[in-house]
Amino acid sequence: MELLHLHNVSLWRNSATILKNINLTIKYGEQWAVLGPNGSGKSFLMNIIATLVFPSSGEVVIAGKKLGEVNVWDVRNHIGIVSDYLQYSYPAMTKTVEVVASGFYSSLGLYQELSPTILQKAESILQTLGLKHYAQTPFGKLSYGEQKRVLIGRAIVYDPDILILDEPCNGLDIRAREEFLHKLTDLVAMKKHIIYVTHHVDEIMPWINRVMLLADGQCMYAGDRSVLEDEALLSRVMGYPLGIFHHNSRTYWYIK
Ligand SMILES: Nc1ncnc2c1ncn2[C@@H]1O[C@H](COP(=O)(O)OP(=O)(O)OP(=O)(O)O)[C@@H](O)[C@H]1O
Ligand SMILES: [Mg+2]
Repeated sequence: MELLHLHNVSLWRNSATILKNINLTIKYGEQWAVLGPNGSGKSFLMNIIATLVFPSSGEVVIAGKKLGEVNVWDVRNHIGIVSDYLQYSYPAMTKTVEVVASGFYSSLGLYQELSPTILQKAESILQTLGLKHYAQTPFGKLSYGEQKRVLIGRAIVYDPDILILDEPCNGLDIRAREEFLHKLTDLVAMKKHIIYVTHHVDEIMPWINRVMLLADGQCMYAGDRSVLEDEALLSRVMGYPLGIFHHNSRTYWYIK
């Protein structure tokens, strides 16, 4: 069964081609990582999957629903996204519990009164993330890493099938990063599907079983995670001679 299918997806802006003929199938039970140099099109691709950007050509099918043929809000319920863009977009005074609750409406602010049910759900998610004491605190007063965790809450509040994490560990200290990565393991146990964009291979946790490599808007590889052993291909994609080693079931790379 396919959870997501991209067929020949291309994106251009002005005269620049940002993504070229991307084909990708994500099956139920798969967890993905996406690697590629700066400007290779990772964030645009994630925004296409999150239905925030519409492709210039090609087909996107999410949970059997083809974009363009169905109400986009029906598709959006299947997907949550955490990105820097989202983090910077929130008005600093928004209460933390409202940031989480806004996920119900896929909106940046709250334009409706919160129903007790939604409020309760948002609070219980904050509790799960260990952030309940911040419920009434303005989002802007939280640390960068705490904000990231709140946005995860926002992304999972309506129980999406796919959770897109676009460089979620940027700006986290080493302890916060490890805690965050292990917290994700719990989400995977809850049968979420994660698409994890990163510049750091050691963030590709052992439960990630598929890897996509992007370079210059093109898919260079989409398949088994064993590609993380392929120094030659990784070096070609990243444009730099890279070596690989393993430690405690994690993969690390270094410049040769
Ligand atoms: N309006 C635009 N017109 C032309 N090119 C654009 C426009 N907006 C963005 N781009 C280009 O699209 C490319 C892909 O951007 P994207 O943000 O998806 O890259 P990325 O792989 O996420 O990079 P990073 O690792 O730095 O986050 C970049 O080269 C960027 O310069
Ligand atoms: Mg990006």
